Amino acid sequence: MWQRFTERARRVVFNAQEEAVDRRENYVSTEHLLLGLARENDCVAARILDYMGVSLEKIRSELNSNLGRGNGRPAQDTQLTPGAKRCIDFAYDEARRLSNNYIGTEHLLLGLVREALSTGGLASQVLSNLSIDLEKTRKEVIKLQDNDLGLAMEKAANSVQLQYVHLNGRLVPKSQAMVSIYDHGFLYGDGAFEGIRVYSGNIFRLKQHVARLFASARALGISLGKSAAFIQAAIVETVIANGVESGYIRVSVSRGVGLALDPAHLRSDATIVISTEELRLYSDQMYKDGLTVITASTRVPPADCIDPQVKSLGKYLNNIAAKQEANRVGAGEALMLNMSGNVAEATGDNLFLVRDGALSTPPTSEGALPGITRGAVIDICSNLGISCVERVTTLYDVYNADEAFLTGTAAEIIPMVKCDGRLIGDGRPGPITNRIISAFRELTPSDGVRAN
Ligand SMILES: Cc1ncc(COP(=O)(O)O)c(C=O)c1O
Repeated sequence: MWQRFTERARRVVFNAQEEAVDRRENYVSTEHLLLGLARENDCVAARILDYMGVSLEKIRSELNSNLGRGNGRPAQDTQLTPGAKRCIDFAYDEARRLSNNYIGTEHLLLGLVREALSTGGLASQVLSNLSIDLEKTRKEVIKLQDNDLGLAMEKAANSVQLQYVHLNGRLVPKSQAMVSIYDHGFLYGDGAFEGIRVYSGNIFRLKQHVARLFASARALGISLGKSAAFIQAAIVETVIANGVESGYIRVSVSRGVGLALDPAHLRSDATIVISTEELRLYSDQMYKDGLTVITASTRVPPADCIDPQVKSLGKYLNNIAAKQEANRVGAGEALMLNMSGNVAEATGDNLFLVRDGALSTPPTSEGALPGITRGAVIDICSNLGISCVERVTTLYDVYNADEAFLTGTAAEIIPMVKCDGRLIGDGRPGPITNRIISAFRELTPSDGVRAN
């Protein structure tokens, strides 16, 4: 819904949420939207109101004198009321009527006037007290759009998109997204996370990612206090708010805020942060030519320490140490062994080997993360009729594979052509690897949840 909003129009909605929070009201209604508009003094809507002889200041003071202070709980999950939602739908409609391919503050104003005047709520009283009607407002918008050069400049300025973070249940501008210095994630690595990719507006295997996040939290004994449906909707909302067509999403959760390590002393609910980024780990050339990897001396811990199946914040210390080993010798990745000396996975990816036309991958019980990309490759193999099994894997198997590749949300699928100084197969990405990569690229724009 937010994709076509100008930066200012988004800010109006954000301001409205802030107004609701200030008033300890856990909903955003048309009067909050009107106040949100009133905070944006220097916008197109303000100019239009100016021409009509009404200032936003005046609207604000009218509203404030009529608006009571909420006395409920502070707004956490600030939701738009049906009227506020209709107002935004009307804004879309007004933009369409005016053949504008963006939603600006002027359309929000029109949407508000249209909704408020038909419902008889507080916003409606204020607007009609000030003699603001729909036809008059529309005429002013059209006049301004026909004549105003400043408007074109403002639209150009607005095309720089404000980025949002979903923090503890609501969208906030990225620059204001802060977590406490006493957050258990920061103090102790006490939390879990997900990395997810968006391909052409499709959030790839979103349900599976959210399910894994909940599985990680459950294993750590962290209650997220939100349903999977809520987290999924929040992820979709963040992607849309940030206008992400293709990119990377990071969902990080921690047990909450509190200095002592004892979870009994926490003084907040779980921290939940959803942000979007651009992330590319390797160059096109590396995807074409394949990666050189080493085996790290740092091991994957056994399940009776930190279970590697849990995508926990804390476990990544080991993986970072292993990655540093790879960096020191100029390798693209490092394989990690478990305490029995079997291959578990790479620092941020799962491993697949191809031998005599069949695939194998280490089982999760050997220390591999239950990767979402790994799951997609297993499904692709089953669709293509290629055998793929989970098998305990040693370095002997790696060195003697015909082909090998790594899978992960961040790295996607990348051929691995050299390990510990030995060429794998003929040292080039193999035909089965390339087939799997093509099938994966076909799957990514459609298998998941759409965010537009
Ligand atoms: C240690 C580790 N193994 C494997 C993976 C691959 O998992 P996925 O395909 O779900 O990204 C990741 C990345 O998330 C990882 O961090």
